[in-house]
Order: sequence, then C-alpha cells, then structure tokens
Amino acid sequence: MNKKYKLHLVFIAICLLMFMPYPAAAKPLYQTHVAQAKINDKTLQKSLKQVKKHKAITIIDNLSVPPFHKRVTLPETKKQSFCLVCHLPLPHRNDERRRTFMNMHSRYIACETCHFRPETTTMAYRWLAYDGIDAGNALSPRRAAKVTIDSNSPSARKHKAQFKKRVPLSPQPGARIAPFYKNIPVLLFKDTPFSQKIKKDWKDANENQRAEIKAKLHAPLNKEGPTCKKCHGKDETMLDLEILGASAAQLKKIQNNTIVRFFDRFKKTDERIRINKLLQ
Ligand code: HEC
Ligand code: HEC
Ligand code: HEC
Repeated sequence: MNKKYKLHLVFIAICLLMFMPYPAAAKPLYQTHVAQAKINDKTLQKSLKQVKKHKAITIIDNLSVPPFHKRVTLPETKKQSFCLVCHLPLPHRNDERRRTFMNMHSRYIACETCHFRPETTTMAYRWLAYDGIDAGNALSPRRAAKVTIDSNSPSARKHKAQFKKRVPLSPQPGARIAPFYKNIPVLLFKDTPFSQKIKKDWKDANENQRAEIKAKLHAPLNKEGPTCKKCHGKDETMLDLEILGASAAQLKKIQNNTIVRFFDRFKKTDERIRINKLLQ
C-alpha cells in the first residue's frame, strides 16, 4: 500500500468518525420504567381519587403570629429531585410516628433510594452530589472503605464520645445516597427536559389527565419505603455502608441505633415513643 493511499484511508476514517451519530445517552432507569408503565383501570380510578383530593401545599411565611413550631426547611441545592415538582422537600406527613425520621433522611438519602426498588434489577448505592461544582455527579466517599472492628473503649472515653460533634457519613453538604444502574444515576433531576415536560403537562392538565400522569409516574415506585432494618440491620442490608465511607465507629452506630430498635419492637400505631422505652 503506498503512503498516499494510506493517508486517504486515514482521512476517510476520521470523516466517518466525525459524522457518526453519537451513541444515544442511556436514559435514567426510572424514566425508562415510567415510559414502559402500563396502567389498568383500577389504578387509574384510584389515581383520579387522589388527584381530586390533592392540594398543592404552599408554605405560608410571614404570618401575623409567628408559628410556635416552625419546621426547618432543607437548604436548597443546585440540583433538585424531580419528585419536588409536586412534593415538598420534607414530603412525609401521613405516618405520625415515622414521618419525622423519614423527613430527616431526605436530607442525605434520595427519594428513589427508598421509593424506587424494582425487584428484578440490582442497583448500586453511591453518593450523588446535589450541590457544589460536582452537582449531578457521583462522589467518592469521605473515606476509603477499610473497616476494622474497634476494641471496647473504656467507659470514660465512651461517655465523652457522646458529646463530640457527629461526623456525617455524607462526603459534602447536600450529597445523597442514590441508586445507580450501569454506573449512571437511576433518578432524574428537576432540570431535565423530561421533568420540565411533566411540570408543564401537570400544570395544564385537567383532573383526568392528571390522574394518568400521577399513575404513570408512580407505577414503578414503591409506596412503602424499606424497613429501618434494610439499612440499619446487619443482615440483608441494601446499602454497603463501608463503600459509602462509614468508619468502624459509624458502622457500629448505624447498626446499633436506639431509635431503630424502638421501631423494631413497637409495631402498633397507637404506641408512643417514650424516653424510658427508648432507652431499653
Ligand atoms: C406530577 C406530580 C408528581 C410528581 C412529579 C411526583 N409525585 Fe408522588 N404523588 C403525586 C400525587 C398527586 C400523589 C397523591 C397523594 C397526594 O396528593 O400527595 C402522590 C403520591 C405519592 C406517594 C404515595 C403513594 C401513592 O402512590 O399514592 C409516594 C410514595 C410518592 N408520591 C412518591 C413520589 C416520588 C418518590 C416521586 C419522584 C420520583 C414522585 N412521587 C413524583 C404527584 C407527584
Ligand atoms: C429513608 C427512606 C425514605 C426516603 C429517603 C424518602 N421516603 Fe418517602 N416514605 C418512606 C416510608 C417508609 C414511607 C411510608 C410511611 C408511611 O407509612 O406513611 C414513605 C411515604 C411517602 C409518601 C406518602 C405520603 C406521606 O405523607 O407519608 C410520599 C408522598 C413520599 N414518601 C414521598 C417521598 C419523596 C418525594 C421523597 C424525597 C424527597 C421521599 N419520600 C424520601 C421512606 C422514605
Ligand atoms: C435507605 C436506608 C435507610 C433507611 C430505610 C433508614 N435509614 Fe436511618 N439512616 C440511614 C443512614 C445511611 C444513616 C446515617 C447518616 C449519617 O450518619 O450521616 C441513618 C441515620 C439514622 C439516624 C441517626 C441520625 C443522626 O443524626 O444521628 C436515626 C435515628 C435513624 N437513621 C433512624 C431510622 C429509622 C427509625 C428508620 C425506619 C423508620 C430508618 N432510619 C430507616 C439510612 C437509612
């Protein structure tokens, strides 16, 4: 093959590469599941009932009488969850016992970690930045996974340890533990074209159309979040806390959480959290 001919071939190859369509970026798994969702009549009717009852909640500030119990709001992040198109950042209201804890977790766990758990797919759980220059990208954990079980510390040290500032598991403010599938986040943010379209459609829709939108968006979701044990237990846990950066001490704390133990013991809805019971 002469040199000129070779150069021609290289030129043609470069041209082909330049004009080749980019491989389509993989869609987040949640979006794929929404697109594939088939809604039956019963689900649609139920959705219609919910939509009829649904009221967009606005938080009223600057009341003439300052509210006694003012709920703190979450610091706003650069990236926001798609779910916040309709839900509040602290969305849990129904279950009086669990709601505070579930809302607290929304600070460092993505909605989809608890509410999108398709049975047939194995997902990996990693830190995802919602804020800062990394917003939208996966983050490395605060520390490399290397766990040694610490020996029993003397009780005086233990006593002091409770007053130390707790180091959060999260590698940076606003980061959340989120599900990944094939190395891309499963979830959507509010600023994606899909989210923007849903936002507009929802605004313009009548009740029947809203019922359809609600049903489709929630078909792939789990109404019930995972039990506390699914993350705080030692067996059958869905999160690999070591990969997420937990130190031995943090791991122990998460797996030996007093409040979680309480939730395990008390199942009936009329049982109240009492300090004396909590400390058992
Ligand atoms: C377009 C509006 C909209 C979006 C976006 C949306 N929801 Fe909802 N969601 C609703 C409505 C309406 C209800 C009915 C209850 C109510 O009025 O709050 C609901 C109910 C729920 C429920 C209760 C169970 C059920 O199915 O009725 C859960 C859990 C839930 N949403 C989670 C999510 C999560 C997680 C996301 C993000 C992945 C999300 N929602 C996104 C409108 C929305
Ligand atoms: C740590 C797990 C966890 C996270 C994170 C979480 N949820 Fe939930 N969620 C639950 C559980 C558990 C329930 C069921 C509680 C109950 O029985 O009312 C629930 C119930 C709900 C409901 C039903 C209505 C209500 O008042 O309780 C909605 C709506 C909802 N979640 C939306 C969201 C949205 C939106 C996010 C993200 C901002 C989110 N959740 C994050 C665990 C979680
Ligand atoms: C999806 C996983 C997940 C579920 C489900 C879950 N937790 Fe947690 N929870 C965590 C993680 C991760 C942390 C550690 C956060 C940290 O240390 O920064 C945590 C921390 C906590 C803390 C300590 C918070 C603090 O500031 O010290 C309490 C209390 C707690 N969870 C209670 C509960 C209860 C009660 C339930 C069930 C109703 C529950 N959790 C369900 C993942 C979960």
